[in-house]
Amino acid sequence: MQRSIVNSYELRNDFPIFKKKINGKELVYLDNASTTQKPYTVIKSITDFYSNYNSNIHRAVYQLAEEATTLYEQSREKIANFINVRPEEIVFTRNTTESINLIAHSWARTNLKKDDGIAISELEHHSNIVPWQILSQEIGTRLEYVGIDENGFLDLEHLIELISSKKVKLVSLSHMSNVLGTIVPIERIIKIAHENDIPVLVDGAQSVPHMPVNVKNMDCDFLVFSAHKMLGPTGVGVLYAKKEVLEKMRPFMGGGDMIKEVFKFHTNYNEVPYKFEAGTPNIADVVGFGAAIDYLKKIGMENIRKHEIDLTEYALESILSLNHLTVYGPRDPNYRGGVISFNIADIHPHDLATIMNDHGIAIRSGHHCAQVLMQRLDVPATSRASFYIYNTKEEIDKFVNTIKEAGRIFKI
Ligand SMILES: Cc1ncc(COP(=O)(O)O)c(C=O)c1O
Repeated sequence: MQRSIVNSYELRNDFPIFKKKINGKELVYLDNASTTQKPYTVIKSITDFYSNYNSNIHRAVYQLAEEATTLYEQSREKIANFINVRPEEIVFTRNTTESINLIAHSWARTNLKKDDGIAISELEHHSNIVPWQILSQEIGTRLEYVGIDENGFLDLEHLIELISSKKVKLVSLSHMSNVLGTIVPIERIIKIAHENDIPVLVDGAQSVPHMPVNVKNMDCDFLVFSAHKMLGPTGVGVLYAKKEVLEKMRPFMGGGDMIKEVFKFHTNYNEVPYKFEAGTPNIADVVGFGAAIDYLKKIGMENIRKHEIDLTEYALESILSLNHLTVYGPRDPNYRGGVISFNIADIHPHDLATIMNDHGIAIRSGHHCAQVLMQRLDVPATSRASFYIYNTKEEIDKFVNTIKEAGRIFKI
């Protein structure tokens, strides 16, 4: 077992929110799959932008506008570098959800037709289900679900069958489940899909923040993720696609900045990625995202992954020893992220989350925007604890002790 070299105790000092008390207790934040906390450097970069550089970008020639444009484009470069692609292949959106909708709108409506299949899995977040349902209703494409086994692993045989029989024309999969933590063998899937000329969209909302993701090695056609799940601000998402693919895609929205020339009855569009960034973008938060990338790179994504394997192994060992507790998803931390979903006898997840909150512990309860998965697990909801760089084993002990206390309160 590799040992973590991330010093969470030291890192916590970089996050102002950990000074806050919840019900008189220190905050134990275990809802990182939902959104992460922000370090001073990210917060400062945003206030710094508004204090010293605020202006619109890509338009004016005065100094402020040039500085703001430079900062915005530097963030694009940092993000491109982080996943090993070219800056012009990075499109800024609002979030992962918008990135997937952009692909469904702009790529799929041109490249797919009635009866074409789209392979997704029972692990998906609603944002990788609903856009494809809307598309199916509008143009008649079909959804093909790939199931999971009792450990939360994808039915690869079924997926390969769908690909090799050409029943699907797009594969769109979550790289890491936001409920079970399952890490999907995405490189293998992409290789098989490409051998059959089928493009692959990777929902990296949970993987990009928590493990090294190198697009050149992965060779996916699309990768989507959100800044707010990786120490960055809300309101910034990323769509990566190969430049040639972006160039052939029709725009998602029309308006300022996405144009080269506008005539009375037609428009020549701007080059990529600007063709997909209509209107004034979320400039300050994109700059803040750049600061988050700097912070993550300083720690190192390999180290972050090791830290989370370590925490997940520790947490799983503790909670699997408890009675009346069902843990969902893979048992081996090497095949999963730091996301643990569970249920305790008939304690409702909302009741457990309320008891946790009394102790200053933030966990998520509910369906986690994955109702298809809840239906597969045959439960209405689960409790979920998810980790990040600032979480410690001591916090996991508090979390496990509070599960025990809930057991005593509910007399199980
Ligand atoms: C796997 C996965 N995909 C997509 C999303 C949607 O992300 P956002 O709400 O930032 O659009 C999430 C958010 O939890 C997620 O976990």
